[in-house]
Amino acid sequence: MERTFTALKPDAVKRNLMGRIIQRIEEKGYKIIGMKLMDVPHELAEKHYAEHKGKPFYPRLIDYITSGPVLAMVLEGDNVIMGLRHIVGKTNPDEAEAGSIRADFCTVKEYNIIHASDSKESAEREINLWFKKEEICTDYKTALEFLMGN
Ligand code: CMP
Repeated sequence: MERTFTALKPDAVKRNLMGRIIQRIEEKGYKIIGMKLMDVPHELAEKHYAEHKGKPFYPRLIDYITSGPVLAMVLEGDNVIMGLRHIVGKTNPDEAEAGSIRADFCTVKEYNIIHASDSKESAEREINLWFKKEEICTDYKTALEFLMGN
């Protein structure tokens, strides 16, 4: 089982889109094992986007992610890193496939509404950056799975 990190950015929260995006994640079959709504400290934003430091859009990236609450999540599932990237869609909403989250819910690349880790290394780094070990629910089961002893 693979894990990934995803964050619904401030516009997703402010535009009341959280539920619809979470629904897509759940319906796909990914398990949410960590979730928190938080104002992002400047230092965390800088660490998260460290690879973009120096790029022209970097200051706006930091301003945006710190402009309101972010819903941070850890997901678990089979091939979840690439699978989630597929349902999230390309960075530029104009180029994202119709039906993807970015194509359907946002219009501006710099202010897209969701982030998803792009590799195993990024997922591990970002999960550790945003979540403490005890904030991740590692082993929960449905009542049926519990009864069956799975
Ligand atoms: P995200 O998945 O959060 O990761 C980095 C973010 O930088 C990305 O979403 C976009 O919001 C933004 N971004 C990436 N490339 C560009 C670009 N060429 N121009 C403007 N913004 C970009």
